[in-house]
Amino acid sequence: MSKKLYIETLGCAMNVRDSEHIIAELGEKKDYELTDKMEDADLILINTCSVREKPVAKLFSEIGVFKKKRKDGAKIGVTGCTASHLGEEIIKRVPEVDFVLGARNVSKITQVVDTHHAVEISTEHDETTYDFSDYRSNRYKALVNISIGCDKQCTFCIVPATRGEELSIPSSIIVKEVERAVSSGVKEVVLLGQNVNNYGRRFGSGESGAKNFTELLREVSQVDGLERIRFTSPHPLHMDDEFLQEFADNPKVCPQIHVPLQSGSTQLLKRMKRGYSKEWFLDRCHKIRQMVPNVAISTDIIVGFPGESDEDFADTMDVLEKVRFDQLFSFKYSPRPHTAAAEYEDQVPDEIASERLTRLQARHREIQDEIMQSRIGETEEVYFEELKSGGKVAGRTATGRLTMVDGSEELLGQIKDVKIEKASLTTLFGKIIKS
Ligand code: 5AD
Ligand code: SF4
Repeated sequence: MSKKLYIETLGCAMNVRDSEHIIAELGEKKDYELTDKMEDADLILINTCSVREKPVAKLFSEIGVFKKKRKDGAKIGVTGCTASHLGEEIIKRVPEVDFVLGARNVSKITQVVDTHHAVEISTEHDETTYDFSDYRSNRYKALVNISIGCDKQCTFCIVPATRGEELSIPSSIIVKEVERAVSSGVKEVVLLGQNVNNYGRRFGSGESGAKNFTELLREVSQVDGLERIRFTSPHPLHMDDEFLQEFADNPKVCPQIHVPLQSGSTQLLKRMKRGYSKEWFLDRCHKIRQMVPNVAISTDIIVGFPGESDEDFADTMDVLEKVRFDQLFSFKYSPRPHTAAAEYEDQVPDEIASERLTRLQARHREIQDEIMQSRIGETEEVYFEELKSGGKVAGRTATGRLTMVDGSEELLGQIKDVKIEKASLTTLFGKIIKS
């Protein structure tokens, strides 16, 4: 009989994909089958994030729950970014943890799973050409890694320390994976990397056709049957004109882009070592809107970065006003180990950071509401992927907005034109206008 695997995934899309790879490897090579009941599992995994202090704290509270509720003899494994940065400290702190596997070592899951107190966290490991077994948590949409690691030195960010230096995956492997997904019915892929548009700067051992991200988009879009390409995340610095032209002209590339701002203040961007100015960011967003009029732009913003003055924050609010983001992921700065900014002396008091975050989010909600309301009366192409309660089916517009219509199972996996009739802050509601 198969053993049972329970896996909890924290963090970003990269982690979701790493979890899929772990599920596939353990299923194919170690006869584990997925369960959503932790109490039934023979192996409990937590795939962790360390980008802020909060998800790290969550790791230890979750392990406490696992220890109490697991069935007799069940193993506990810690994987992902916190595994990379804390390593064997996790086992010292909680000896009940059986093994620790870093974010750069996913392909070694079948090696560590049966080795008591194994710790595999090397950030030098190259798995860019490793042939992972296949598993996808979403039948209609495939996540596809295009690079691993990150070469940037943003002074707030722990990721280069947890995921190591950046290596691109050869385009032949990426295309094969996209073809495999499409042949199983997928119409949409999301290309994943810490800095997708830095693609091609350095490869591991494999040969690649595409030498940069623009070429990769062209290559992937030639896959027959593939209808939609998304990617996350590009870096504002590498958004050159050639890339923007491809983004605008390639009919399979969705008019949605995540452009992480971090701060609107040029002076703070310098301290963050982001490599661009407020003006460059505004110029890129302006250009995208000119080329793709209905584009949806989302962003990440950190408030309370060391040294952030009222004027710096006013610059961030100014960018919010000028770009009018569709979606905002906003965070209070959280000092992280192995980062330069954690040592800066001018840390911002928590009350000030909290107040700024509240103001930023409140203004963003107003803008988001206006954007969503402006869709009423428009027709959107929606790719349906999930059944909801009350006879509703949910999908996404090309711009990535969640949309619901009345309908049933037959809609799943289909792209339909929907006339938008109603909008909430996060969801559009409408009717299919033609079949
Ligand atoms: N504190 C707060 N937010 C952070 N991020 C990265 N590092 C930190 C940190 N130390 C945010 C950035 C990044 C997103 C994934 O998380 O905005 O784009
Ligand atoms: Fe993803 Fe960064 Fe969290 Fe790692 S630390 S899981 S790369 S968000």
